[in-house]
Amino acid sequence: MMKKAFCLVWLTAAMILNCYAWPIPQNPAPQWLKNATDVIEFQLNKAANTYKPGQNPRSINPNGTVRTAGVTDWTTGFFPGSLWYGYELTGDKNLAQQARKFTLALDTVRNITSSHDLGFMLYCSYGNAFRITADKNYLPALADGAQHLYNRFNPKVGVIKSWDFSWWHYPVIIDNMMNLEYLYWAGKEFKKPDYIIAASTHASTTMKNHFRPDFSSYHVVDYDPNTGKVLAKRTHQGVTDESAWARGQGWGLYGYTMCYANTKNTAFLTQAENIAKFIMNHPRMPKDKIPVWDFDVHNAMDTAERAPRDASAAAVIASALLDLSTQVKDGKKYVDYAEEILKSLSSEAYLAKQGENKYFLLKHSVGAFLYNSEIDTPLDYADYYYLEALKRYVAIKKIDLKDLAKS
Ligand code: GLY
Repeated sequence: MMKKAFCLVWLTAAMILNCYAWPIPQNPAPQWLKNATDVIEFQLNKAANTYKPGQNPRSINPNGTVRTAGVTDWTTGFFPGSLWYGYELTGDKNLAQQARKFTLALDTVRNITSSHDLGFMLYCSYGNAFRITADKNYLPALADGAQHLYNRFNPKVGVIKSWDFSWWHYPVIIDNMMNLEYLYWAGKEFKKPDYIIAASTHASTTMKNHFRPDFSSYHVVDYDPNTGKVLAKRTHQGVTDESAWARGQGWGLYGYTMCYANTKNTAFLTQAENIAKFIMNHPRMPKDKIPVWDFDVHNAMDTAERAPRDASAAAVIASALLDLSTQVKDGKKYVDYAEEILKSLSSEAYLAKQGENKYFLLKHSVGAFLYNSEIDTPLDYADYYYLEALKRYVAIKKIDLKDLAKS
């Protein structure tokens, strides 16, 4: 009896010392994930020592040279963001130091007013920097950038303008859903409720006008800026206007999942689940779950077998499905699907070997096929969303991070 009472007291004390909770069970990392994190730590360190802050590695040109992203490039935030995620996954402090250097080199991005991509550019770099370090020095750039993104919202149309190219009237691309995460965060951080209203209005308007009955989406909707009337629906980066451009489907899935997480508006969750269904049940999704750059490419100019895959679309989809899995009652089907994607991306077919691939992580992505731009190449955003997805996977599977660290 005395012994039992002693045990109870001891266990209670242990619980209190453990922040009033039982220790979270930690699972060992599977071998494919350990291999992947070895590659990640090696490649990111090499890349950070090879490329210059402000001239971030973006893709590989057909002649084998590296295309870099300067500070005005829409992809410029992904490399610093990858360094931050690499640090979180591996615990390698060198990566944190490099991440800080590559982030701070983007300070002038905060002055850009001509792009809706400020979310990609600043939230992936400065946003991760602040989330991880809580260093307030990162906040002024984030405040300026968010204001400039918000300024592109036109309440008459109910959306943020994507492109300033003169041949469109008021174009909005599905990719723009991604930049709303920055506005939701900034609305809370800087106490600007208008940012949050703009983000949700953009998501609702896009839900109404970008989607087809099967929940695939157009790439671009062009609006009349004075009346909000829809003037045209196009798929600028897809094989035809009516096709399902693979990365665009990923941007939509990620966007509505994230909007639900921020608002708890169930219409956004339903939209995310319907997009997930479209992607996961697609008859032309290859066995390894890495889509061809456009789901409809077989109809038009090539067979799906010969058309290049897009690892970037797969990485965005995996990250989004993992997020979605945490927001529904039974998220297992989303975790299982994302796990299949991540295993494929972490296989020799897609993941670079140490020292190869100009220090990018993933091979085989497609930027803009029809414009002969970045075809079957590594892409900085493929690497970024692959790392984010791995981080989400580790959290969901309660994998012991110590298992992924070298020392
Ligand atoms: N946001 C541009 C692209 O996905 O290609």
